Amino acid sequence: MALPGHIAIIMDGNGRWAERRGLPRIEGHRKGADAVHDTVRACREFGLDALTLYAFSTQNWERPPDEVGALMWLLADFVHKEREEILDRQIRLTTIGEIDRLPAFVQVPLRALIAESAHNREMTLCLALSYGARENIVAAVQKLAAAAVAGKLDPAAIDERALAGALATADLPPVDLVIRTSGEQRLSNFLLWEAAYAELYFTDVAWPDFTRGELMRAIAAFERRDRRFGLTGAQVQQRRAGSK
Ligand code: FPP
Repeated sequence: MALPGHIAIIMDGNGRWAERRGLPRIEGHRKGADAVHDTVRACREFGLDALTLYAFSTQNWERPPDEVGALMWLLADFVHKEREEILDRQIRLTTIGEIDRLPAFVQVPLRALIAESAHNREMTLCLALSYGARENIVAAVQKLAAAAVAGKLDPAAIDERALAGALATADLPPVDLVIRTSGEQRLSNFLLWEAAYAELYFTDVAWPDFTRGELMRAIAAFERRDRRFGLTGAQVQQRRAGSK
């Protein structure tokens, strides 16, 4: 089986990683940012088309202000520190979520790097920031409804393709593999539409301890999966034979 083209990761367990060591939670996020660096580099080397990282959810705004503030500084720091790596390695940086809600010290460098890297073609790195899948689906439905009311869209023409095209992920390839670290087995409002046929991989390893080796284990598990997309095994075999 082929490599996943698009991996999406729920980077969970930073807080517990720190608490287990008697450290402030932010230390877990800081170590988590190092794991982000290593994972981006590994995915680029493996030749993935896209990597989407759940870095900050809509619901995360409700965390204590100190933790939210520290996460914002870490994001700004990430953009500064990774700029050269992203540009040198021909990575296109993009985001999903309400980045208008981020403080200016994150938004300004983030938007600048998104613009600077827009023509890169080797891999897309998508950061989900102030992102929630339900919120994004609602926004997409509002967009389509407004077009229908304006007479620009026939409601009967609203199909799966139209809705997918109105989502923030419209220009990303299909999600093949969703990884969640730290033992929890749920999607937590991440890519609910897009993950419809994704393989799900859960590991007990906390995000700060997620290494290249752990990523390779997840990819190896993906390669052993039998993806049928609602068809029978025989139909899948036939289609594979036909496409050769
Ligand atoms: C979940 O762990 C993680 C987050 C809410 C933030 C993820 C942020 C990073 C990995 C670092 C910054 C990101 C980038 C892109 C540089 P948790 O805090 O919910 O952990 P817990 O469940 O153990 O409390």
